[in-house]
Amino acid sequence: MSHAAAPRPLAARAGAALRGRIRVPGDKSISHRSLMFGAISLGETRIEGLLEADDVLATGRAMAAMGAGVVRDGEGAWRVSGLGCGGLLEPEAVLDFGNAGTGSRLTMGLVGGHAFAATFVGDASLSRRPMGRVLDPLRDMGVEVIARTKDRLPLTLRGPRTPVPITYRVPMASAQVKSAVLLAGLGAPGVTTVIEPIATRDHTERMLVGFGADLSVEIDAAGARIIRLVGRPDLKAQAVVVPGDPSSAAFAIVAGLIVPGSDVTVENVLLNPLRTGLFETLIEMGADLSIENERLSGGERIGDVRVRHSALTGVVVPPERAPAMIDEYPILAVAAAFAEGPTVMEGLEELRVKESDRLAAVARGLEANGIACREGEASLVVEGRRAGVVLGGGSVATHLDHRIAMSFLVLGLAADRPVTVDDTAMIATSFPSFRGLMEGLGAEFVDA
Ligand code: S3P
Repeated sequence: MSHAAAPRPLAARAGAALRGRIRVPGDKSISHRSLMFGAISLGETRIEGLLEADDVLATGRAMAAMGAGVVRDGEGAWRVSGLGCGGLLEPEAVLDFGNAGTGSRLTMGLVGGHAFAATFVGDASLSRRPMGRVLDPLRDMGVEVIARTKDRLPLTLRGPRTPVPITYRVPMASAQVKSAVLLAGLGAPGVTTVIEPIATRDHTERMLVGFGADLSVEIDAAGARIIRLVGRPDLKAQAVVVPGDPSSAAFAIVAGLIVPGSDVTVENVLLNPLRTGLFETLIEMGADLSIENERLSGGERIGDVRVRHSALTGVVVPPERAPAMIDEYPILAVAAAFAEGPTVMEGLEELRVKESDRLAAVARGLEANGIACREGEASLVVEGRRAGVVLGGGSVATHLDHRIAMSFLVLGLAADRPVTVDDTAMIATSFPSFRGLMEGLGAEFVDA
Protein backbone atom coordinates (compact mmCIF):
# COMPACT_ATOMS: atom_id res chain seq x y z
CA MET A 1 0.00 0.00 0.00
CA SER A 2 1.16 3.56 -0.66
CA HIS A 3 2.77 5.38 2.24
CA ALA A 4 2.75 9.15 2.55
CA ALA A 5 6.14 10.87 2.27
CA ALA A 6 7.08 13.89 4.40
CA PRO A 7 4.87 16.88 3.49
CA ARG A 8 6.42 19.55 1.29
CA PRO A 9 4.93 22.98 2.06
CA LEU A 10 5.34 25.88 -0.36
CA ALA A 11 4.41 29.56 -0.41
CA ALA A 12 3.47 31.72 -3.39
CA ARG A 13 3.73 35.49 -3.41
CA ALA A 14 2.80 38.30 -5.72
CA GLY A 15 5.57 39.63 -7.94
CA ALA A 16 5.99 40.65 -11.54
CA ALA A 17 3.43 40.08 -14.31
CA LEU A 18 3.27 36.59 -15.78
CA ARG A 19 4.32 36.49 -19.41
CA GLY A 20 5.11 33.84 -21.97
CA ARG A 21 4.00 30.72 -23.81
CA ILE A 22 3.96 27.30 -22.21
CA ARG A 23 2.81 23.77 -22.99
CA VAL A 24 1.29 21.78 -20.16
CA PRO A 25 1.64 17.98 -19.99
CA GLY A 26 -0.75 15.57 -21.70
CA ASP A 27 -4.35 15.15 -20.69
CA LYS A 28 -4.71 12.83 -17.70
CA SER A 29 -7.99 11.21 -18.81
CA ILE A 30 -6.67 10.42 -22.29
CA SER A 31 -3.30 9.26 -20.92
CA HIS A 32 -4.88 6.65 -18.61
CA ARG A 33 -7.10 5.39 -21.41
CA SER A 34 -4.23 5.22 -23.94
CA LEU A 35 -2.33 2.81 -21.70
CA MET A 36 -5.42 0.74 -20.91
CA PHE A 37 -6.72 0.50 -24.46
CA GLY A 38 -3.22 -0.23 -25.73
CA ALA A 39 -3.03 -3.11 -23.23
CA ILE A 40 -6.26 -4.71 -24.50
CA SER A 41 -5.59 -4.24 -28.21
CA LEU A 42 -3.62 -6.50 -30.51
CA GLY A 43 -0.31 -5.06 -31.69
CA GLU A 44 1.81 -2.15 -30.56
CA THR A 45 0.14 1.11 -29.56
CA ARG A 46 2.42 4.13 -29.79
CA ILE A 47 1.64 7.05 -27.52
CA GLU A 48 3.07 10.55 -27.83
CA GLY A 49 2.62 13.23 -25.20
CA LEU A 50 1.66 10.83 -22.39
CA LEU A 51 1.31 12.55 -19.02
CA GLU A 52 4.26 11.17 -17.04
CA ALA A 53 2.79 11.77 -13.61
CA ASP A 54 2.27 9.42 -10.66
CA ASP A 55 -1.41 8.66 -11.40
CA VAL A 56 -0.78 7.63 -15.00
CA LEU A 57 2.46 5.78 -14.25
CA ALA A 58 0.47 3.68 -11.73
CA THR A 59 -1.91 2.72 -14.54
CA GLY A 60 1.08 1.81 -16.73
CA ARG A 61 2.44 -0.44 -13.97
CA ALA A 62 -0.97 -2.06 -13.50
CA MET A 63 -1.21 -2.85 -17.23
CA ALA A 64 2.31 -4.30 -17.13
CA ALA A 65 1.38 -6.37 -14.06
CA MET A 66 -1.44 -7.87 -16.13
CA GLY A 67 0.88 -8.87 -18.95
CA ALA A 68 1.04 -5.90 -21.34
CA GLY A 69 4.42 -4.64 -22.52
CA VAL A 70 4.70 -1.02 -21.40
CA VAL A 71 7.93 0.66 -22.49
CA ARG A 72 9.11 4.27 -22.39
CA ASP A 73 10.66 5.45 -25.61
CA GLY A 74 11.69 9.03 -24.80
CA GLU A 75 9.94 12.00 -23.20
CA GLY A 76 6.20 11.35 -23.27
CA ALA A 77 6.68 8.60 -25.85
CA TRP A 78 5.51 5.14 -24.86
CA ARG A 79 4.90 1.80 -26.59
CA VAL A 80 2.29 -0.62 -25.31
CA SER A 81 2.27 -4.20 -26.59
CA GLY A 82 -1.29 -5.34 -26.09
CA LEU A 83 -2.76 -8.75 -25.41
CA GLY A 84 -6.04 -8.29 -27.26
CA CYS A 85 -9.50 -7.81 -25.80
CA GLY A 86 -10.00 -10.35 -22.98
CA GLY A 87 -6.30 -11.22 -22.98
CA LEU A 88 -5.12 -9.62 -19.71
CA LEU A 89 -3.51 -12.00 -17.21
CA GLU A 90 -4.02 -12.35 -13.47
CA PRO A 91 -1.56 -10.05 -11.67
CA GLU A 92 0.75 -11.73 -9.18
CA ALA A 93 0.98 -8.72 -6.85
CA VAL A 94 -1.50 -6.12 -5.66
CA LEU A 95 -2.25 -3.21 -8.03
CA ASP A 96 -1.27 0.02 -6.26
CA PHE A 97 -3.04 3.05 -7.72
CA GLY A 98 -1.67 5.60 -5.26
CA ASN A 99 -3.95 8.69 -5.39
CA ALA A 100 -5.66 7.84 -8.70
CA GLY A 101 -9.44 7.54 -8.85
CA THR A 102 -9.59 7.26 -12.62
CA GLY A 103 -6.83 4.64 -12.87
CA SER A 104 -8.33 2.46 -10.15
CA ARG A 105 -11.99 2.72 -11.17
CA LEU A 106 -11.44 2.14 -14.87
CA THR A 107 -9.12 -0.78 -14.13
CA MET A 108 -11.85 -2.27 -11.92
CA GLY A 109 -14.01 -2.28 -15.03
CA LEU A 110 -11.28 -3.98 -17.06
CA VAL A 111 -10.68 -6.64 -14.38
CA GLY A 112 -14.45 -7.19 -14.10
CA GLY A 113 -14.42 -8.32 -17.72
CA HIS A 114 -11.74 -10.97 -17.08
CA ALA A 115 -12.11 -14.29 -15.22
CA PHE A 116 -9.40 -13.66 -12.63
CA ALA A 117 -8.83 -11.90 -9.33
CA ALA A 118 -6.95 -8.66 -8.69
CA THR A 119 -6.41 -6.68 -5.51
CA PHE A 120 -6.57 -2.88 -5.57
CA VAL A 121 -4.82 -0.65 -3.04
CA GLY A 122 -4.21 3.10 -2.85
CA ASP A 123 -3.12 5.94 -0.61
CA ALA A 124 -5.10 7.37 2.30
CA SER A 125 -7.12 9.65 0.00
CA LEU A 126 -8.07 6.91 -2.47
CA SER A 127 -8.86 4.49 0.38
CA ARG A 128 -11.49 6.95 1.65
CA ARG A 129 -13.22 7.41 -1.71
CA PRO A 130 -16.50 5.61 -2.52
CA MET A 131 -16.08 2.66 -4.86
CA GLY A 132 -19.66 1.36 -4.59
CA ARG A 133 -20.63 3.54 -7.55
CA VAL A 134 -18.44 1.31 -9.74
CA LEU A 135 -18.79 -1.94 -7.81
CA ASP A 136 -22.62 -1.99 -7.84
CA PRO A 137 -22.97 -2.23 -11.64
CA LEU A 138 -19.99 -4.59 -11.78
CA ARG A 139 -21.77 -6.87 -9.28
CA ASP A 140 -24.79 -6.84 -11.61
CA MET A 141 -22.45 -8.10 -14.33
CA GLY A 142 -21.36 -11.00 -12.11
CA VAL A 143 -18.21 -9.59 -10.53
CA GLU A 144 -17.35 -10.75 -7.00
CA VAL A 145 -16.03 -8.14 -4.56
CA ILE A 146 -14.20 -8.79 -1.31
CA ALA A 147 -13.43 -5.76 0.87
CA ARG A 148 -12.54 -5.34 4.53
CA THR A 149 -14.48 -2.06 4.66
CA LYS A 150 -17.55 -2.07 2.41
CA ASP A 151 -16.81 -0.64 -1.02
CA ARG A 152 -13.53 0.98 0.00
CA LEU A 153 -9.96 0.11 -0.95
CA PRO A 154 -8.17 -2.17 -0.30
CA LEU A 155 -10.41 -4.64 -2.11
CA THR A 156 -10.22 -7.67 -4.35
CA LEU A 157 -12.31 -8.21 -7.48
CA ARG A 158 -12.90 -11.45 -9.33
CA GLY A 159 -14.44 -11.23 -12.77
CA PRO A 160 -16.86 -13.99 -13.87
CA ARG A 161 -16.18 -16.40 -16.74
CA THR A 162 -19.00 -14.80 -18.70
CA PRO A 163 -19.87 -11.24 -17.62
CA VAL A 164 -23.54 -10.34 -18.08
CA PRO A 165 -24.12 -7.51 -20.55
CA ILE A 166 -26.33 -5.06 -18.63
CA THR A 167 -28.27 -1.88 -19.23
CA TYR A 168 -27.13 0.65 -16.64
CA ARG A 169 -28.43 4.13 -15.97
CA VAL A 170 -25.59 6.05 -14.30
CA PRO A 171 -27.08 7.60 -11.13
CA MET A 172 -24.52 10.42 -10.80
CA ALA A 173 -22.63 12.48 -13.38
CA SER A 174 -19.48 10.37 -13.54
CA ALA A 175 -17.32 9.52 -16.52
CA GLN A 176 -15.45 7.05 -14.35
CA VAL A 177 -18.59 5.03 -13.59
CA LYS A 178 -19.73 5.12 -17.22
CA SER A 179 -16.28 4.01 -18.35
CA ALA A 180 -15.95 1.19 -15.81
CA VAL A 181 -19.23 -0.36 -16.99
CA LEU A 182 -18.23 -0.04 -20.64
CA LEU A 183 -14.81 -1.56 -19.99
CA ALA A 184 -16.35 -4.54 -18.19
CA GLY A 185 -18.81 -4.73 -21.09
CA LEU A 186 -15.89 -5.34 -23.45
CA GLY A 187 -15.64 -8.79 -21.87
CA ALA A 188 -19.37 -9.58 -22.05
CA PRO A 189 -21.06 -11.34 -24.96
CA GLY A 190 -23.74 -9.12 -26.45
CA VAL A 191 -24.57 -5.45 -26.02
CA THR A 192 -23.82 -3.47 -22.84
CA THR A 193 -25.86 -0.28 -22.63
CA VAL A 194 -25.01 2.71 -20.48
CA ILE A 195 -27.56 5.49 -20.13
CA GLU A 196 -26.10 8.79 -19.12
CA PRO A 197 -28.78 11.40 -18.22
CA ILE A 198 -26.13 14.13 -17.97
CA ALA A 199 -23.26 14.06 -20.46
CA THR A 200 -19.76 13.66 -19.00
CA ARG A 201 -16.36 13.59 -20.71
CA ASP A 202 -16.59 11.18 -23.63
CA HIS A 203 -12.97 10.06 -24.05
CA THR A 204 -13.80 6.40 -23.43
CA GLU A 205 -16.42 6.38 -26.17
CA ARG A 206 -14.31 8.27 -28.70
CA MET A 207 -11.16 6.27 -28.04
CA LEU A 208 -12.86 2.85 -28.01
CA VAL A 209 -14.29 3.63 -31.45
CA GLY A 210 -10.78 4.69 -32.52
CA PHE A 211 -9.39 1.33 -31.33
CA GLY A 212 -12.03 -0.52 -33.40
CA ALA A 213 -14.93 -1.17 -31.00
CA ASP A 214 -18.53 -1.23 -32.23
CA LEU A 215 -19.96 1.56 -30.05
CA SER A 216 -22.82 3.90 -30.83
CA VAL A 217 -24.29 6.90 -29.02
CA GLU A 218 -27.89 7.99 -29.37
CA ILE A 219 -29.56 10.93 -27.65
CA ASP A 220 -33.09 10.16 -26.44
CA ALA A 221 -36.06 12.54 -26.24
CA ALA A 222 -35.09 13.57 -22.69
CA GLY A 223 -31.56 14.42 -23.82
CA ALA A 224 -29.94 11.36 -22.18
CA ARG A 225 -27.03 9.71 -23.97
CA ILE A 226 -27.61 6.02 -24.70
CA ILE A 227 -24.29 4.31 -25.27
CA ARG A 228 -24.36 0.82 -26.76
CA LEU A 229 -21.22 -1.29 -26.88
CA VAL A 230 -20.93 -4.68 -28.59
CA GLY A 231 -18.80 -6.93 -26.35
CA ARG A 232 -15.72 -8.96 -27.21
CA PRO A 233 -14.52 -6.79 -30.10
CA ASP A 234 -11.22 -7.10 -31.94
CA LEU A 235 -9.35 -4.03 -30.76
CA LYS A 236 -6.34 -2.97 -32.80
CA ALA A 237 -3.30 -1.01 -31.69
CA GLN A 238 -3.31 2.69 -32.56
CA ALA A 239 -1.04 5.70 -32.66
CA VAL A 240 -2.26 8.15 -30.01
CA VAL A 241 -1.17 11.78 -29.66
CA VAL A 242 -2.25 13.13 -26.27
CA PRO A 243 -3.18 16.84 -26.29
CA GLY A 244 -2.40 19.19 -23.39
CA ASP A 245 -4.60 18.84 -20.31
CA PRO A 246 -7.15 21.67 -19.99
CA SER A 247 -7.41 20.93 -16.27
CA SER A 248 -3.67 21.66 -15.87
CA ALA A 249 -3.77 24.61 -18.28
CA ALA A 250 -6.46 26.09 -16.02
CA PHE A 251 -3.92 27.09 -13.35
CA ALA A 252 -1.74 29.16 -15.68
CA ILE A 253 -4.83 30.62 -17.35
CA VAL A 254 -6.41 31.84 -14.12
CA ALA A 255 -3.03 33.09 -12.89
CA GLY A 256 -2.69 35.11 -16.10
CA LEU A 257 -6.13 36.62 -15.55
CA ILE A 258 -5.62 37.68 -11.92
CA VAL A 259 -1.98 38.84 -11.89
CA PRO A 260 -1.83 42.46 -13.15
CA GLY A 261 -0.02 43.01 -16.44
CA SER A 262 0.02 39.34 -17.43
CA ASP A 263 -0.17 37.91 -20.93
CA VAL A 264 0.00 34.11 -20.98
CA THR A 265 -0.57 31.57 -23.74
CA VAL A 266 -0.96 27.86 -23.10
CA GLU A 267 -0.38 26.00 -26.35
CA ASN A 268 -1.88 22.75 -27.57
CA VAL A 269 -4.79 22.50 -25.12
CA LEU A 270 -7.56 19.92 -25.52
CA LEU A 271 -10.81 21.76 -26.28
CA ASN A 272 -13.31 18.89 -26.14
CA PRO A 273 -16.62 20.66 -25.34
CA LEU A 274 -17.20 18.35 -22.37
CA ARG A 275 -14.01 19.77 -20.82
CA THR A 276 -14.16 23.49 -21.54
CA GLY A 277 -16.74 24.69 -18.99
CA LEU A 278 -14.13 26.75 -17.12
CA PHE A 279 -13.16 28.70 -20.24
CA GLU A 280 -16.83 29.48 -20.96
CA THR A 281 -17.35 30.63 -17.39
CA LEU A 282 -14.25 32.82 -17.39
CA ILE A 283 -15.38 34.49 -20.63
CA GLU A 284 -18.76 35.18 -19.01
CA MET A 285 -16.87 36.77 -16.11
CA GLY A 286 -15.24 39.15 -18.56
CA ALA A 287 -11.94 37.37 -19.10
CA ASP A 288 -9.83 38.42 -22.06
CA LEU A 289 -9.47 34.79 -23.19
CA SER A 290 -9.07 33.82 -26.82
CA ILE A 291 -8.43 30.59 -28.65
CA GLU A 292 -5.76 30.80 -31.29
CA ASN A 293 -4.50 28.32 -33.86
CA GLU A 294 -7.54 26.07 -33.45
CA ARG A 295 -7.11 22.70 -35.14
CA LEU A 296 -8.09 19.01 -35.04
CA SER A 297 -5.78 16.30 -33.72
CA GLY A 298 -6.74 12.64 -33.32
CA GLY A 299 -10.42 13.55 -33.65
CA GLU A 300 -10.22 16.18 -30.85
CA ARG A 301 -10.34 19.96 -31.17
CA ILE A 302 -7.22 21.58 -29.76
CA GLY A 303 -5.89 25.14 -29.69
CA ASP A 304 -3.72 27.69 -27.92
CA VAL A 305 -5.45 29.53 -25.10
CA ARG A 306 -4.30 33.13 -24.58
CA VAL A 307 -5.28 35.23 -21.58
CA ARG A 308 -4.46 38.75 -20.50
CA HIS A 309 -5.03 40.23 -17.06
CA SER A 310 -8.72 41.13 -16.85
CA ALA A 311 -11.23 42.82 -14.60
CA LEU A 312 -13.54 39.92 -13.71
CA THR A 313 -17.17 40.09 -12.59
CA GLY A 314 -18.94 37.45 -10.51
CA VAL A 315 -21.45 35.22 -12.33
CA VAL A 316 -23.94 32.45 -11.65
CA VAL A 317 -22.45 29.24 -13.03
CA PRO A 318 -25.25 27.04 -14.39
CA PRO A 319 -25.31 23.68 -12.55
CA GLU A 320 -25.68 21.78 -15.83
CA ARG A 321 -22.19 22.96 -16.74
CA ALA A 322 -20.65 21.16 -13.75
CA PRO A 323 -19.60 17.95 -15.56
CA ALA A 324 -17.68 20.00 -18.15
CA MET A 325 -15.64 21.77 -15.46
CA ILE A 326 -15.84 19.42 -12.50
CA ASP A 327 -12.10 19.48 -11.75
CA GLU A 328 -11.90 23.25 -12.25
CA TYR A 329 -14.11 24.55 -9.41
CA PRO A 330 -11.17 25.05 -7.00
CA ILE A 331 -9.34 27.28 -9.48
CA LEU A 332 -12.59 29.00 -10.50
CA ALA A 333 -13.12 29.85 -6.82
CA VAL A 334 -9.71 31.55 -6.87
CA ALA A 335 -10.67 33.58 -9.96
CA ALA A 336 -13.95 34.46 -8.23
CA ALA A 337 -12.03 35.83 -5.23
CA PHE A 338 -10.65 38.56 -7.52
CA ALA A 339 -13.96 39.29 -9.25
CA GLU A 340 -16.34 42.15 -8.58
CA GLY A 341 -19.43 40.73 -6.83
CA PRO A 342 -20.39 37.19 -5.88
CA THR A 343 -19.89 34.06 -7.98
CA VAL A 344 -22.51 31.37 -7.40
CA MET A 345 -21.68 27.72 -8.08
CA GLU A 346 -24.33 25.03 -7.77
CA GLY A 347 -24.65 21.32 -8.53
CA LEU A 348 -21.35 20.59 -6.79
CA GLU A 349 -22.28 17.34 -5.01
CA GLU A 350 -19.55 15.39 -6.82
CA LEU A 351 -16.88 17.73 -5.39
CA ARG A 352 -17.43 16.09 -2.00
CA VAL A 353 -15.96 12.78 -3.24
CA LYS A 354 -12.87 13.88 -5.15
CA GLU A 355 -9.28 13.45 -3.95
CA SER A 356 -10.54 15.41 -0.93
CA ASP A 357 -13.89 16.93 0.01
CA ARG A 358 -13.05 19.75 -2.39
CA LEU A 359 -16.02 21.88 -1.48
CA ALA A 360 -14.96 22.04 2.16
CA ALA A 361 -11.25 22.30 1.32
CA VAL A 362 -11.87 25.27 -1.00
CA ALA A 363 -14.14 27.04 1.47
CA ARG A 364 -11.63 26.66 4.33
CA GLY A 365 -8.77 27.79 2.08
CA LEU A 366 -10.65 30.90 0.98
CA GLU A 367 -11.61 31.79 4.56
CA ALA A 368 -8.01 31.36 5.70
CA ASN A 369 -7.04 34.01 3.16
CA GLY A 370 -9.65 36.65 3.94
CA ILE A 371 -12.14 35.70 1.22
CA ALA A 372 -15.76 35.49 2.32
CA CYS A 373 -17.73 32.51 1.03
CA ARG A 374 -20.81 30.46 1.83
CA GLU A 375 -20.58 26.68 1.61
CA GLY A 376 -23.84 24.80 1.04
CA GLU A 377 -24.38 21.05 0.81
CA ALA A 378 -23.73 21.19 -2.95
CA SER A 379 -23.04 24.85 -3.59
CA LEU A 380 -20.49 27.55 -3.01
CA VAL A 381 -20.86 31.31 -3.18
CA VAL A 382 -17.59 33.24 -3.31
CA GLU A 383 -17.86 36.92 -2.47
CA GLY A 384 -15.68 38.94 -4.77
CA ARG A 385 -12.89 41.17 -3.65
CA ARG A 386 -13.96 44.01 -1.37
CA ALA A 387 -12.09 47.30 -1.00
CA GLY A 388 -9.94 47.48 2.09
CA VAL A 389 -9.84 43.70 2.67
CA VAL A 390 -6.33 42.22 2.72
CA LEU A 391 -6.19 38.96 0.77
CA GLY A 392 -3.77 36.14 1.47
CA GLY A 393 -1.55 35.49 4.46
CA GLY A 394 -3.20 32.15 5.16
CA SER A 395 -2.02 28.58 5.36
CA VAL A 396 -4.10 26.07 3.42
CA ALA A 397 -4.67 22.40 4.27
CA THR A 398 -4.49 20.43 1.00
CA HIS A 399 -5.77 17.03 2.24
CA LEU A 400 -3.66 15.01 -0.25
CA ASP A 401 -5.34 16.90 -3.12
CA HIS A 402 -3.17 18.16 -5.99
CA ARG A 403 -5.77 20.59 -7.30
CA ILE A 404 -6.25 22.24 -3.90
CA ALA A 405 -2.48 22.74 -3.67
CA MET A 406 -2.12 24.27 -7.15
CA SER A 407 -5.24 26.45 -6.86
CA PHE A 408 -4.14 28.13 -3.64
CA LEU A 409 -0.60 28.66 -4.90
CA VAL A 410 -2.18 30.56 -7.80
CA LEU A 411 -4.15 32.61 -5.26
CA GLY A 412 -0.87 33.60 -3.63
CA LEU A 413 0.50 34.94 -6.94
CA ALA A 414 -2.08 37.73 -6.89
CA ALA A 415 -2.86 38.17 -3.18
CA ASP A 416 -1.68 41.03 -0.95
CA ARG A 417 0.22 38.64 1.29
CA PRO A 418 1.84 35.26 0.49
CA VAL A 419 -0.27 32.10 0.62
CA THR A 420 1.21 28.87 1.98
CA VAL A 421 -0.03 25.36 1.18
CA ASP A 422 0.83 22.60 3.66
CA ASP A 423 1.92 20.03 1.07
CA THR A 424 2.83 20.10 -2.62
CA ALA A 425 3.86 16.44 -2.91
CA MET A 426 0.56 15.48 -4.53
CA ILE A 427 1.10 17.88 -7.43
CA ALA A 428 3.25 15.08 -8.88
CA THR A 429 0.11 12.98 -9.38
CA SER A 430 -1.08 15.15 -12.29
CA PHE A 431 1.28 18.04 -13.08
CA PRO A 432 4.89 17.44 -11.98
CA SER A 433 6.20 20.39 -14.02
CA PHE A 434 3.72 22.87 -12.45
CA ARG A 435 6.30 24.78 -10.42
CA GLY A 436 8.90 25.00 -13.18
CA LEU A 437 6.41 26.09 -15.83
CA MET A 438 4.84 28.70 -13.58
CA GLU A 439 8.29 30.02 -12.56
CA GLY A 440 9.13 30.25 -16.24
CA LEU A 441 6.20 32.64 -16.63
CA GLY A 442 7.50 34.72 -13.73
CA ALA A 443 5.72 33.20 -10.72
CA GLU A 444 7.44 33.47 -7.32
CA PHE A 445 7.38 30.47 -5.01
CA VAL A 446 9.27 30.16 -1.74
CA ASP A 447 9.92 26.85 0.03
CA ALA A 448 8.11 27.18 3.33
C1 S3P B 1 -12.33 11.52 -15.00
C2 S3P B 1 -13.61 11.73 -14.58
C3 S3P B 1 -13.97 12.68 -13.51
C4 S3P B 1 -12.81 13.63 -13.17
C5 S3P B 1 -11.50 12.90 -13.09
C6 S3P B 1 -11.19 12.23 -14.42
C7 S3P B 1 -12.10 10.54 -16.09
O1 S3P B 1 -14.28 11.95 -12.35
O2 S3P B 1 -13.06 14.30 -11.96
O3 S3P B 1 -10.46 13.80 -12.78
O4 S3P B 1 -10.98 10.54 -16.67
O5 S3P B 1 -13.01 9.78 -16.41
P1 S3P B 1 -15.79 11.45 -12.03
O6 S3P B 1 -16.16 10.43 -13.02
O7 S3P B 1 -15.73 10.90 -10.64
O8 S3P B 1 -16.62 12.69 -12.12
